[in-house]
Amino acid sequence: MNAPLPHAEHAAVAPSITNPMLHPMVDPKLPERSPAMCIARGDGVYVFDEAGKRYLDTVASLWNVNVGHNRPEIRAAIVAQLDKLAYYSTFVNTTNAPAAELATRLMAMFAPEKMARVMFSSGGSDAVETAIKLARQYWKLEGHADRVKILSLKLGYHGVHFGGASANGNPLFRVAYEPLMPGFFQVEGPYAYRNPWGATSEEQLLAFSLAELERTIQYQGPSTIAAFMAEPVQGAGGVIVPPAGYWAGMRRILDQYGILLISDEVVTGFGRIGSLCGARAWGVAPDIMAMAKGINSGYVPLGATLLNDRVANAWKRDHPLAAVMHGYTYSGHPLACAAANANLDIVVAEDLPGNAAAVGTYMMGRLREFDRYPMVGDIRGKGLMAALELVKDRSTKQPLLMAEAPAQKLVQVARDAGAIVRIQGNRLIISPPLVFTRAHVDEMVAILHTAVAQAQAAAG
Ligand SMILES: Cc1ncc(COP(=O)(O)O)c(C=O)c1O
Repeated sequence: MNAPLPHAEHAAVAPSITNPMLHPMVDPKLPERSPAMCIARGDGVYVFDEAGKRYLDTVASLWNVNVGHNRPEIRAAIVAQLDKLAYYSTFVNTTNAPAAELATRLMAMFAPEKMARVMFSSGGSDAVETAIKLARQYWKLEGHADRVKILSLKLGYHGVHFGGASANGNPLFRVAYEPLMPGFFQVEGPYAYRNPWGATSEEQLLAFSLAELERTIQYQGPSTIAAFMAEPVQGAGGVIVPPAGYWAGMRRILDQYGILLISDEVVTGFGRIGSLCGARAWGVAPDIMAMAKGINSGYVPLGATLLNDRVANAWKRDHPLAAVMHGYTYSGHPLACAAANANLDIVVAEDLPGNAAAVGTYMMGRLREFDRYPMVGDIRGKGLMAALELVKDRSTKQPLLMAEAPAQKLVQVARDAGAIVRIQGNRLIISPPLVFTRAHVDEMVAILHTAVAQAQAAAG
């Protein structure tokens, strides 16, 4: 049998099956050992279990409930739409009012990026898949059918469909599902804490990582590459924040070789790192954006793939392959789009990108306090997106994994103290609702101090 992958969460013993549900991202034997935590209710930045115990949601469920739980405005929009029409397809040439409104609104929001078209779907993996397929179709319409390869970053996460999984840069999401798709290649990214070049400054890291990107492009052959796809801040990979010049430098290199830039904005879209989209935070306009999560804060599943005018214009010409033979039964779902319109009203009215920037700066300041615990090897983040990287030994940087006793203790102590915290691999991920205040940060930090101190005592 193969050795377990280093960051996968495994259970040692197989108990009898009592829970028929396969939970995502875990060996099914693990949830069998203890009953699943059942979340019964939500209110703002808090959720409640069935016994009524309250928890601060430090991860906005899955980086997505950005406006907070149970907002009456979104409920009202969904109910109003439900009273008119729960669902009708948008295939071929049918539309519905919430979908049409949302499409227009997104074009206005992302006018600085020159976005011109949007295709809706049911989530982030769908949005990524749509981006990859339309990028390939674009090149066929442009008369470059040989431009098919997709480059992405190691430790990048682009969802679970076969295109996204083939672009993912972490073996955890790949090995069990191989063979993946041909034509996908991952480039070493600018991960300061564990970079393979021994770079010790931002300038060095920037130079090494951009050189690596350009070398890969030249090695693969620029005329065979359709697109480069990346997250503005790598989320599931461990909240890896690139050096300030990385996105601009990367865009320059892509432009030099005519390669499309797909920004995977599934986490960073709609404010999380302090601007309406993540690429904008780096001063870069992508060609294609994959969005989901914060588009309607998870009230109803929804994804969106936006194309800029350069890409959209390819469909203006007559071509035998011009029909978009892609789309989902739930593309433009009226309830999801109604929820998105109400959600985006809140994002704008409450300036959630601005709040994420301001409260995020305060949060990062407070998180620096965790430097006092030897098990916290690195502290990093941008806006309301942060990670504490847990290690057994600061000098070797050996990861302290989620499945190990001190990390389990951390999660349990935090939960007992009233906060849901998430450790992924060896990174404690912090991605609260964007309506977080400084007081919420203080509440979270106080609980984390208790939890990390006890975990540190357990780690020795
Ligand atoms: C950057 C990124 N892309 C794509 C996805 C996939 O989204 P979904 O889980 O909605 O399919 C995720 C999910 O976390 C993500 O973080």
